Amino acid sequence: MKEDVIGRSRVEDTDELKEFYSRLENLNAGALWTVANDIEPWEPQPTSVPVLWRYADLRPQVIDSASMVTGDDAGRRVVMLVNPGRKELSAAVGLLYTGLQIMNPGESMTAHRHAASALRFVIEGEGAWTVVNGDRLKVGPNDFAITPRGAWHEHGNDSDRSQVIWQDGLDIPLVNTLDANSFQVHPDQYQTPGKVQNSSLLEYGAGILKPAGADWNRRYSPLLAYPWERTYEALLNQAKVSAGSPYDGIIMEYVNPLTGGSVMPTMGAHMQLLRAGEATRAHRHTGSVVYHVAKGHGHSVINGQRLDWHEHDIFCVPSWAWHEHANDSASNDACLFSFNDFPVMHSLDLYTEAAMEDNDGHQLLS
Ligand SMILES: [Fe+2]
Ligand SMILES: [Fe+2]
Repeated sequence: MKEDVIGRSRVEDTDELKEFYSRLENLNAGALWTVANDIEPWEPQPTSVPVLWRYADLRPQVIDSASMVTGDDAGRRVVMLVNPGRKELSAAVGLLYTGLQIMNPGESMTAHRHAASALRFVIEGEGAWTVVNGDRLKVGPNDFAITPRGAWHEHGNDSDRSQVIWQDGLDIPLVNTLDANSFQVHPDQYQTPGKVQNSSLLEYGAGILKPAGADWNRRYSPLLAYPWERTYEALLNQAKVSAGSPYDGIIMEYVNPLTGGSVMPTMGAHMQLLRAGEATRAHRHTGSVVYHVAKGHGHSVINGQRLDWHEHDIFCVPSWAWHEHANDSASNDACLFSFNDFPVMHSLDLYTEAAMEDNDGHQLLS
């Protein structure tokens, strides 16, 4: 957009000014007008770019990592997904991190905790478990689980034959940008889990009922694991009674069952269903999103760029990027899991959204 307007910086360099700037630099100071237009853009200018990470390309690398380093030596054996515009933060998009973690049959990782919050979305393998604050969770393909900030956690795979691969999502780049991260190794290396497995699901996972007088004062959900079967059923039921969102199809949020709010204060998560042949309209909003194709195949157009996706591919939508999604099957539905930083945007009052009006709500391919 044009910068040569009153109210924007349009100072031309002169020899006198250059000498002035170097004087300021020596004093650890600077002239605002030299950077003002960059640090106060007309609208959000993310350095993140749209990226599609194909599972067919990444899976062999993840499998290789399982024999190249031990879980104990790596801490966690993860192939992380790095946005070319966010390498310095190890971010997949915006201030969100994601990676693919693999655990061999019978393997278990030691316990730790950190100020960053984490979530998991299971891709393959039947033996995955995680212990979060003493609750042992069994998780299978397409299950979603959370590890809130400060919660002791450790993972493992109790299958005797198949590897486990899951996707991790964390707010590490956000917490580091805020200079608020910390990390502790568990003093006993491993937690002692409670006797009842998936106790948070038994206590808080009824859906239509909550324990009367539940005493919970944390900022994150007391429910730690969200099974795929019930999630998918909820989407199918929703599709019977709702047309859904013009931008997302049938979309539902994983919530704190006591408040209806996001699962954690820094990250939210959704599952959405695109009906056979459905193509959504384009919109954009502040906030970054990482998508995981839980089911089916289709494509998304992000800032005019078409990305074709298949099951277990991962892609990202940077903040303020136009995006629309399409299910390319004429007979089967497609499901997209996603996580985002919307809770941060909302709590800081920075969430804003716009719909594309031109071209019947669809982008032109660039
Ligand atoms: Fe962790
Ligand atoms: Fe969106």
